Amino acid sequence: MSADTNSSSQPLWHGRFSVAPAAELIAFTQSLSFDKRLWKDDIVGSIAHVNGLEHVSLLTKQEAAAIIKALNVVATEMGDNTFVFVASDEDIHTAIERRVTEIAGEVGGKVHTGRSRNDQCVTAVRLWTKRELGALAQQLLELCDVLSARADAAGWGSDGVYLPGYTHLQRAQPVLLAHHLLAHAWAFTRDIDRLLQTIERLDVSTLGAGALAGSSLPLDPKFTAKEMGFATHFANSLDAVSDRDFVAEALFDIALIGTHLSRIGEEFVLWTTTEFGFASLDDSYATGSSMLPQKKNADIAELARGKTGRLIGNLTGLLATLKGLPLAYNRDLQEDKEPLFDSYDQVSLGITAVTGMIATATFHHSTMGEAADAEMLFATDLAEWLVQQGTPFRQAHAMVGSLVQQSINGNESLRELVRKDPKFGENAAKLIGQGLGVGHRTSPGASGPAAATEQRTRFSNQIASLRARINTK
Ligand code: ARG
Repeated sequence: MSADTNSSSQPLWHGRFSVAPAAELIAFTQSLSFDKRLWKDDIVGSIAHVNGLEHVSLLTKQEAAAIIKALNVVATEMGDNTFVFVASDEDIHTAIERRVTEIAGEVGGKVHTGRSRNDQCVTAVRLWTKRELGALAQQLLELCDVLSARADAAGWGSDGVYLPGYTHLQRAQPVLLAHHLLAHAWAFTRDIDRLLQTIERLDVSTLGAGALAGSSLPLDPKFTAKEMGFATHFANSLDAVSDRDFVAEALFDIALIGTHLSRIGEEFVLWTTTEFGFASLDDSYATGSSMLPQKKNADIAELARGKTGRLIGNLTGLLATLKGLPLAYNRDLQEDKEPLFDSYDQVSLGITAVTGMIATATFHHSTMGEAADAEMLFATDLAEWLVQQGTPFRQAHAMVGSLVQQSINGNESLRELVRKDPKFGENAAKLIGQGLGVGHRTSPGASGPAAATEQRTRFSNQIASLRARINTK
């Protein structure tokens, strides 16, 4: 697409003005530079509108055909980058209408019958958001597939790979790596569900609301909604042109996806340090340093963390724009698009990059396992063993705590102290041992092999149901 400086061209609304708009007005108020990417959606909306006008006899069959033909030429020009913008094109909507009139002649002047840019632009944003949130849901499914494939490869059985689970970033209890990876995947299943619910709520056509109050012309919003594939059409014209709830929701959904990506990112940053040594990144998913020759950095993981600040900023920025706006359309609403496109672009790149990083990373099973085999991680199992012998938990906790203290102070093994203590003995000492930790947790949803089958089945069912919902969108 190229820009042209044809300053003699007039804005579509020039009628009541005696002079051309100031260059600085155009520079500040234009949205073309960022809403160009809505061209397909504007054309879909415009074709539906023209068909709607023909349907209620505001256009003859021939007139409608001529305008649609011109819209298709515009689509071709947009598609092959030969569309020439002119200085008076404020946004993609005025640019397309101008060009339709150039191509079709006088009949092009009828395309905007009963329509305002206020209902036109939000209809296009709804079409765009509906499609692109569906694409994000699909991307997240792929990430879930990778996480669950890596989980399966790490193993769900008693011979599965295990690592310390953490609370407060202090080693707490051993968990299967599969369990840990799926914990992240469950968060993404909720994100997919949320995107699909957002799509359901935004699936409302706003075409036919006019500038704010509808029209004296016999428009049929139900007909045009169906033409565009919307589930339904607006009930209140004022609400239709001023509602950007769906953009705020999309930005929230994306900010939360980013938040989930940032949590995985942070773990990969930690896991790939020499200090942790739990994972290494594939060379194609790591970066080097311009000065330090030995460095291998987890920049994808860091930016998955870092870009989330921007996603949250886009959400709060839009909410601030919407707050206190009087009904109905105000130009402020044009500020919906840049945060939406930016958040979408960044999260989409982020999901793909993180998916590749996880798919290709190497997990260091023995380093993880050794860390999880540390005796202290068996302390809770010892307390629960006492509980099974009838000791109240609080008392059991104190008894184990005191052995832990002795072990630390006397530099003696916890296992040995347990073995020698008459309140514990040999049977309790046998709980502690290499690779035994994960097996101790057997309750539903727990981190060990006993609960794995149920979790695996529930996860697969959830993915299958989300996949089916995405495919019917
Ligand atoms: N570019 C505007 C937007 O994206 C289109 C609507 C302009 N309407 C108006 N009355 N100036 O919101």
